[in-house]
Amino acid sequence: MTTALEFTQQLSEHPKSAEERAAILANPGFGNHFTDHTVVVDYKVDVDGNGGWSNARLEPYGPIMLDPSAAVLHYGQEIFEGMKAYKHADGTVWTFRPEENAKRMNLSARRLALPELPEETFLESLRRLVAVDKEWVPTGEGDALYLRPFMIATEAFLGVRPAREVSFRVIASPAGNYFGGELQPVSIWLSENYARAGRGGTGEAKCGGNYAASLAPQLEAEAQGCKQVLFLDPFNDNAVEELGGMNIFFVFADGRLVTPELNGNILRGVTRSSVIQLAKDRGLDVQERKITIDEWRAGVESGEITEVFACGTAAVITPIGELKTQHGSIASPGSGAGEVSMSIRKQLLGIQTGTVEDTYGWMT
Ligand code: COI
Repeated sequence: MTTALEFTQQLSEHPKSAEERAAILANPGFGNHFTDHTVVVDYKVDVDGNGGWSNARLEPYGPIMLDPSAAVLHYGQEIFEGMKAYKHADGTVWTFRPEENAKRMNLSARRLALPELPEETFLESLRRLVAVDKEWVPTGEGDALYLRPFMIATEAFLGVRPAREVSFRVIASPAGNYFGGELQPVSIWLSENYARAGRGGTGEAKCGGNYAASLAPQLEAEAQGCKQVLFLDPFNDNAVEELGGMNIFFVFADGRLVTPELNGNILRGVTRSSVIQLAKDRGLDVQERKITIDEWRAGVESGEITEVFACGTAAVITPIGELKTQHGSIASPGSGAGEVSMSIRKQLLGIQTGTVEDTYGWMT
């Protein structure tokens, strides 16, 4: 039996002033600002080869001391999670399905040969950070405190093998709309020169390398005036996989809701699985299956596909207005912000922010 780790706590002597914080919370953007504290837990393998987590602590937010030969800097042995905390009208702060992130982090850990973190330690880390930095939760429409748990290989060693020293950390960042400004349908660019994942690769893991590999295609997308890049599976009839940082859904006029099936290449989105649940419960016929660009194009032309949207913790639900490709574009019908997408978005945000009853028990 493992016993829960004891946490120590050292509060910052130089927290941001209430004025500074208020100015940030009024217009947080995404990923720009960080709260006053962080959580750290260390992992070490001893001479007998036994690994263990220790030294769980909450401390002031600040730069990390890392040896230049730390494995993460060379071989990218790193994983992360993304989740949000919301402030409800009564002032209480809630996280959304955090145990799902704890489980997914351990799936990623297995793929990247990092140690698994006990779920209770993951959850306690979040609780502690949110408790001391609760004043940092923004309350604007669609705003939340974005929590970023991550794990890095800190061992100073250049051999290619799983690191024997690792650190788990959590930072928090007040966040507004991921794409900036008000919610609007986004244009996305079809990546035909680059794939995101291959069979047996790390597509399903939430590791930094997947996102690093999405940056060159993301630049292509931006050069085309698009906000995200869409990846296909070149070994599977160019089936649609996912966007650089979010999953994708198609709404059909006859009540079908289609999203690519989890095939080992696609991220197991917590928002994705929540959308599937909400859609089923409102009577939609949810199909997790292969969908190709040809079906997308034909479906829009025939009027069968009425809405397309992206979803993720950061993106929530963001309507896709247009897919641009080297061979022309597929514009979503109407403005792109369809009724089904917006209604599921409203319900999901309502549960998260406490204005819609959480009959699922998703909030902690
Ligand atoms: C998230 O939605 O939490 C993500 O991880 C996407 C991105 C910001 C990397």
